[in-house]
Amino acid sequence: MRLIVPSPAKVNLALWIKGKRPDGYHELITVMHTINLCDTLFFQPSDRFELSIEGSESLPLNRSNLIVKAAQLFKEVTGIKPEVKVKLEKVIPIGAGLGGGSSNAAATLKGLNVIYGNPLSESELVQVASQLGSDVPFFIRGGLAVAYGRGEKLKHYSPASFKLLLVYPGFPCPTKEVYENLPPIERDITIEEAERRIISPLVAGRLREVEEAMENDLEKSKAECVSKVNEVKEVVRACGLKPMMSGSGSSVFALITDQNYDLTPLKSRQWWYKLLNAI
Ligand code: C5P
Repeated sequence: MRLIVPSPAKVNLALWIKGKRPDGYHELITVMHTINLCDTLFFQPSDRFELSIEGSESLPLNRSNLIVKAAQLFKEVTGIKPEVKVKLEKVIPIGAGLGGGSSNAAATLKGLNVIYGNPLSESELVQVASQLGSDVPFFIRGGLAVAYGRGEKLKHYSPASFKLLLVYPGFPCPTKEVYENLPPIERDITIEEAERRIISPLVAGRLREVEEAMENDLEKSKAECVSKVNEVKEVVRACGLKPMMSGSGSSVFALITDQNYDLTPLKSRQWWYKLLNAI
């Protein structure tokens, strides 16, 4: 069976840190939405599991690749040996806080599940995904969600409609380093508060309100790459937009709430940027 599975990126409209956990992870509440910047996974029958990648030289093809890890975990959980050739067409920048690797892992689980006759329910897929990384469960369904716990617990909403500017400055931010260099943060925030500040105005199309409420506590990290992200934010601000670091960076996005912006300051830089839509 041949199958094509899209693997979209996400942005974090908000990310609030509640505190550090005994296991070293951070307890958080984040609002995520998938966007129309997509990798694609092509599955075709084979006599063993094989992976090839187009569009990126730097990604490993071995066990450290999240696609390979997802296929191994699928085999462990279902007892089914995945005999497929997977080709990944990479578009999403790596180390950009856009969840590309996590999305690829989720797309692998979903693709294998379809090919082998749906041995896992959606909630089982989510549970399996949580073993691959904090952001992986979100991508099983994608769209709009509040993620909590270490990011693996989810409350989904109907996807919203908005435009955004996305800038990738060409350098990566290692997630672990960004978290390790956070000052102590202990926010008293709830899912209901996230709904009030972000979800409700977003679903109602009150984008100005969303823009004002957008916050990312990871911007407070003392990691070196985050200080470089600040320069990117300043250029986006000079365009007349409110810049936000997505997740642990390095990409920066801004909501497009009206036509009152001018990308001239951005055009003189060598950075990758695109106008995109929420999906
Ligand atoms: O879960 P994942 O493997 O994607 O996390 C990568 C790293 O990010 C972790 O090793 C941890 O240092 C940090 N992290 C964290 N708190 C979270 C999620 C990730 O400290 N909620």
